[in-house]
Formats: sequence, C-alpha cells, structure tokens
Amino acid sequence: MPEDVGPILLQGPVEVVLDDGEVRTCERPMVALCTCRRSRTFPFCDTSHRRRARPSAGGGRAGQRDTQ
Ligand code: FES
Repeated sequence: MPEDVGPILLQGPVEVVLDDGEVRTCERPMVALCTCRRSRTFPFCDTSHRRRARPSAGGGRAGQRDTQ
C-alpha cells in the first residue's frame, strides 16, 4: 500500500454507485472520495486515513502517529 494514502478530490456534486448497487450522493462543491476504505462514511472520506501509524523505517520513530 502506498505510504501517502488519502482521498481523491472531485468537483461536486457527485453520485457514487457502490458494488452492491446502492447509490450515495454528495451535493458539496468539492467531494473527497475515500481510497483507504477506513471511512465510516464510505465512499466519502471522513479523515480516518490520518489515524494510521507511520512505518518505523524511513526516518520516523516507531509508534509515531501521522498528524496531517
Ligand atoms: S481516504 Fe480518508 S478516510 Fe479513507
């Protein structure tokens, strides 16, 4: 999985058809679509992707949290 996981930003409003055929809509002028599947409001991003711990390799300290 790529390290910089985050939403895809789209100009709204949008209509998203899920795998089961359910349709979700968002009327906002800018819409963030979840790519990590951690969102409680999937398919829309709720910033849950930020709660992921960074890997210890690559200069970060083990257990350091992503605070973006
Ligand atoms: S991309 Fe933000 S919660 Fe999944």
